[in-house]
Formats: sequence, structure tokens, C-alpha cells
Amino acid sequence: MAAPKHFLQLKDFSREELEHVFARTRWIKDKFKRYEPYHPLFDRTLVMIFEKQSTRTRLSFEAGMHQLGGAAIFLSTRDSQLGRGEPVEDAAQVISRMCDIVMIRTFEQGIVERFARHARVPVINGLTNEYHPCQILADIYTFIEHRGSIEGKTVAWIGDSNNVCNTWLQAAEVFGFNVHVSTPPGYEVEPERAGLYGTDHYEEFPDPMDAVRGADLVTTDVWTSMGFEAENEARRRDFEDWQVDAEMMRQAGPDAIFMHCLPAHRGEEVAAEVIDGPHSVVWDEAENRLHTQKALMEYLLLGRVNS
Ligand code: CP
Ligand code: NVA
Repeated sequence: MAAPKHFLQLKDFSREELEHVFARTRWIKDKFKRYEPYHPLFDRTLVMIFEKQSTRTRLSFEAGMHQLGGAAIFLSTRDSQLGRGEPVEDAAQVISRMCDIVMIRTFEQGIVERFARHARVPVINGLTNEYHPCQILADIYTFIEHRGSIEGKTVAWIGDSNNVCNTWLQAAEVFGFNVHVSTPPGYEVEPERAGLYGTDHYEEFPDPMDAVRGADLVTTDVWTSMGFEAENEARRRDFEDWQVDAEMMRQAGPDAIFMHCLPAHRGEEVAAEVIDGPHSVVWDEAENRLHTQKALMEYLLLGRVNS
């Protein structure tokens, strides 16, 4: 049996494959907006394994699979044997004999990779400590909807060099754009952990005001990611000058857009006037999780559909 295709990091897909997914996203989204049913995944089952909390990822995968004609099953560590030490390799064998595609949200990237190695079906990374590829799929699609091609553009990342940041950096290599990163000292990008081929597509700025200057897109994320809660107090102190506020958006320029993967903490990483202001596209960004992931599941299960 041929090994299935997985989506564990953004760079698992070529630029050309990602562009195919975006073209399908557009088609699937348009059809959905016209209330026209599209059920190419009739009778297929998605299993979603959550070891961390979620609103958007669960909702978009569950609703998305239903809208494509299939079914989705939610498993959490709390109420499955995964939480009682069943080896990930065994779970992968069993789940992939009963279901057609799997999405996992967990801690170390190694867990998703071990699962995928033992699965007979496609596996999607729904967020790990290192990466969040489904988020950046939606973010780049959203950028294209608002501003056209992202090639050659400048994205400013303000805050923690976390899973979402790492995935932006991978995307910069795939699509050929630049990321200006500003983190507090001690939280800088680790290129190897980010899975980068080099350092050509990003630049680090000690002062966030320098990072946003002239940016086409300004984006940030929580100061403390899931799994790092023990560092919460120290991070609140370390990150206090890394809030995206109106002054920063003015520095970026009148056409800059603002994104945040959500959930957001107004008054911490972003000021309310920015996330609720005219530059913000966060609701389109959240909605596009649904449409891009439907196209992703279609591609992983059916290959290139051209309708
Ligand atoms: N952005 C995102 O992945 O949100 P959830 O944690 O709610 O799934
Ligand atoms: N960096 C955040 C993203 C949440 C969607 C986290 O990992 O908690």
C-alpha cells in the first residue's frame, strides 16, 4: 500500500500544491456561500484527537467534514485511552483501520510524526508546540483575498517566536516573502526548531517599531502558548513592550492589515483598538480556517479535483 500524504508542517507541501489548495478553497467557499451542497467526502470519517483545548480548529474541521458529506469524531486525551498511556503507534494503527483521515492537536511535533509513520491514512497537524500549519494556510489565503499575491511582501511578526511564528517563517521560504520578527530578548527565533532551510527570509529587530515599519501585514499571538502556562508570569513582564497598538499600526502604513490566529487577549499582545479596528481582518481569517481545511481534506483524500 502506498504511503499516504500527510500535512504535518507547512513545508510538507510544495508551493504548487498549496496554490492548488487555495484554488480549491476559492471554489469550495464560493459554492458554500451559494448554499450549494458539495459532498465529495460522502461516507468518509475524520477522527480529531485533541490533547490541548480548541474552539476554531475543532469547529472548522468538524463542520467542514460534515459540509463535505462525511462525519467527524472527537477524541480527547481525557476520555480516550491515549490519556492512559496507550502508545501513539498502537493508536495510529487502530484509528487508521476504522477511519479515513486524522487530525491531531498535541504537544511535541515528534508525537504527530510518530503517529503519521504508523498510520495508513493521511494525518493533519492541528497544532503542536512547534507548528500550526492549518492556521497559516488560512492566513495566507486571507492575505491573498485582501491584497493579492504575498510574494515579495513583508509580514511583521511581533511577540513570541512560537508555533504560529515558526510556520510563518516556513511559509516565507515556500512563497518567497519576508518576515520581520521582533521578540523580547531570550525569545528569538530558533531556525532549526522552526524547520527552516536558511535565514534569508526573515530578519530580527530588537525594537518592534522597526519591525513593523512599511509592513504589508502585522500579526501577533498570545504571549503564553498552551503547554507553557508555568511561564505565564515571567512572560507577562518580558513581553509588556510587545503589544501591537495603534501607534505600531500607524508605523506600518495605511494599507497594512492586522491578523491574529485567536484566541486574543486585548490589553496584552494586542490593543482593542487594533483588533477591533479598521486594519483588522481577524474574522475573515477565522472563517477561512473552514474553507482552507475543506480544500486540504479534499486534496489529501481525493488528490487533484478539478471541477
Ligand atoms: N487559532 C486556533 O487554532 O484556535 P483554536 O485554539 O480555538 O483551535
Ligand atoms: N500559539 C498558540 C496558538 C493557539 C491557537 C498556542 O499554541 O497556544
